[in-house]
Amino acid sequence: MNKLIFVLLALLCLLSASVCGAQTADFDLEKGTVLLNSGYEMPILGIGCFALSDQQAENSVYWALRDGYRLIDTARIYGNEPGVGRAIRRAIDEGFVTREEIFVTTKMWTSDFGNGDAAVDASLLRLGLDYIDLMILHHSQPSNDVQAYQAMERAVEAGKLRSIGLSNFYEPADFDRLVNTTTIKPAILQNETHPYHQSKEMQRHIDQYGTVLESWFPLGGRGNTQKLFNDSTISSIAAAHGKSSAQIILRWHLQAGNIAIPGSSNESHIQENFEIFDFFLTDEEMQQMTALDKNQRFADY
Ligand SMILES: NC(=O)c1ccc[n+]([C@@H]2O[C@H](COP(=O)([O-])OP(=O)(O)OC[C@H]3O[C@@H](n4cnc5c(N)ncnc54)[C@H](OP(=O)(O)O)[C@@H]3O)[C@@H](O)[C@H]2O)c1
Repeated sequence: MNKLIFVLLALLCLLSASVCGAQTADFDLEKGTVLLNSGYEMPILGIGCFALSDQQAENSVYWALRDGYRLIDTARIYGNEPGVGRAIRRAIDEGFVTREEIFVTTKMWTSDFGNGDAAVDASLLRLGLDYIDLMILHHSQPSNDVQAYQAMERAVEAGKLRSIGLSNFYEPADFDRLVNTTTIKPAILQNETHPYHQSKEMQRHIDQYGTVLESWFPLGGRGNTQKLFNDSTISSIAAAHGKSSAQIILRWHLQAGNIAIPGSSNESHIQENFEIFDFFLTDEEMQQMTALDKNQRFADY
């Protein structure tokens, strides 16, 4: 019955594009996926692994996969690729998911940019996988990021990577610098994005390349979440829906066209963060959320 009501709401949503906001064209909010410019489907909600120990990452990724998540975000510099790999193998061995259903993202760290081919192989080895769904350059580094990106392009050709992208490119001209000297258009740009830093200009800019925005610090990041959770606009929308502020923020990301990868080491938070596909924010609520943008970052990198 709940599913039927939600399907009807989703249909209403389609009939009145304004209800769901302007940036949702490519996001399938029912399936929870987006079709990337690489031709691969990517889940739009995932589990983030920043600041988790190797063992915490194993637990969080395992709980997430069990709860229905299919997108995992890690990085070489987080030091937890082996834990992520163990969780994936455990979930596959227990039979509730297949490798093909899981979308694994990792990132190449800046000190590896001069040796990108080896960095791809090393991530594959640490994760224990024979391909990675998405690899991202962790930061803009004009001295050698093109060289690193070209190594990722070779890895796509070799079948080691399926999609490639960028992270921490905050200036349109910087993004264009890399795009204009490489061949494969980035599938994803992963930047700090949350209600106080909505990244609308970059989102519009990268749209011309079919590049999708992915939010890191979707809840503001450790130490900042309460500022967003206690924001009176967010908490009153949460009360109106009988949802938590975290769920409202995550739902806003998806309706605003941002892939979200909330990080957590807490089993019940992980479950809560995935329970956002049974309601939608109205056009008015989306406008209230848009009005919160202060162009304010919480991190300084
Ligand atoms: N590309 C980059 O440079 C970059 C930088 C930073 C992060 N990232 C990626 O983006 C992901 C997300 O960023 P993040 O993890 O730093 O920040 P975040 O997701 O914005 O916030 C994580 C914080 O939110 C808390 N939290 C999560 N769900 C909650 C809930 N339902 N209720 C209350 N608190 C909740 C977590 O605490 P608990 O553990 O207690 O749940 C943790 O303290 C990272 O994990 C990483 O994969 C990328």
